[in-house]
Amino acid sequence: MGVLDRFRLDGRTAVITGGSRGLGRAMAQALAEAGADLILIGREEETLETARQELVALGRKVAVVPGDVSTPAGAEAACRQVLDLNRPVDVLINNVGGRRVDVPTEDTPIAQWQELIDLNLTSALVCSQQLCKGMLERGRGAVVNVTSIAGSIAIKGIRGRHYETAKGALGALTRSLAADWAPRGVRVNAIAPGVFLTAPNRRWFGEKPDFQTAFVSNVPMGRMGEPEELGPTAVFLASDASSYITGVTVVVDGGYTLW
Ligand SMILES: NC(=O)c1ccc[n+]([C@@H]2O[C@H](COP(=O)([O-])OP(=O)(O)OC[C@H]3O[C@@H](n4cnc5c(N)ncnc54)[C@H](OP(=O)(O)O)[C@@H]3O)[C@@H](O)[C@H]2O)c1
Repeated sequence: MGVLDRFRLDGRTAVITGGSRGLGRAMAQALAEAGADLILIGREEETLETARQELVALGRKVAVVPGDVSTPAGAEAACRQVLDLNRPVDVLINNVGGRRVDVPTEDTPIAQWQELIDLNLTSALVCSQQLCKGMLERGRGAVVNVTSIAGSIAIKGIRGRHYETAKGALGALTRSLAADWAPRGVRVNAIAPGVFLTAPNRRWFGEKPDFQTAFVSNVPMGRMGEPEELGPTAVFLASDASSYITGVTVVVDGGYTLW
């Protein structure tokens, strides 16, 4: 097998939470180009359907599951819909997360804290519990959790430390599940993006150009990432190209965390 063949995902099915827009959509594109069939989870049916039609054009089977994974019950229900499709899941990308609320940590209401921890952390746990049992039985599979550089550093100039906390814990979940599941053939890794120019971030930086200038000045490469720059790392971690790698977090941040 040639080296590039190791990156192929032909005949494998990948579930991507939040695969309809943003970084999840970019990873869906990359996985489909590498040969994977897809199951995309998202809340809004219209954007899911648009993504489905675009990705089907690449010649892959693409199913969409409307669902909200922000609560444990919602995540379980979405996973049940995935399991009802009766397609063995080979790759799980736990991508849903985000929603930084810019409040001082000392004033964060516990209910809001819990909600955001569930969105960023518990959703990945529940989806892994529900969708990886088949992988463990078959002795093969790959999980990729999307954390953030905020999982290892506190981002300057913004508050809402539920985000740092949840993403840090997701990194810890990645390492510990990787250790537990390595003997059973399932690898668990993470990607920690820096700041990427997704549509919401473009809007946000458009409204706050000073923040954008300050932010970019902290990036050694002097720019933010384009969503498609995340895709190749997702393919690497999902495929046999990373067959001897588990429990790592690959940082994709233009060097942000170096300074
Ligand atoms: N963008 C960045 O610069 C950046 C940096 C570091 C880390 N990250 C992380 O990367 C991940 C993706 O971020 P993104 O910026 O691509 O987000 P995004 O542009 O807001 O896209 C989020 C995707 O997830 C879906 N989604 C959101 N909430 C959901 C829910 N509760 N249940 C099911 N689907 C849901 C959205 O579709 P619907 O709205 O239709 O549900 C959409 O497909 C997050 O974990 C984020 O923390 C992003």
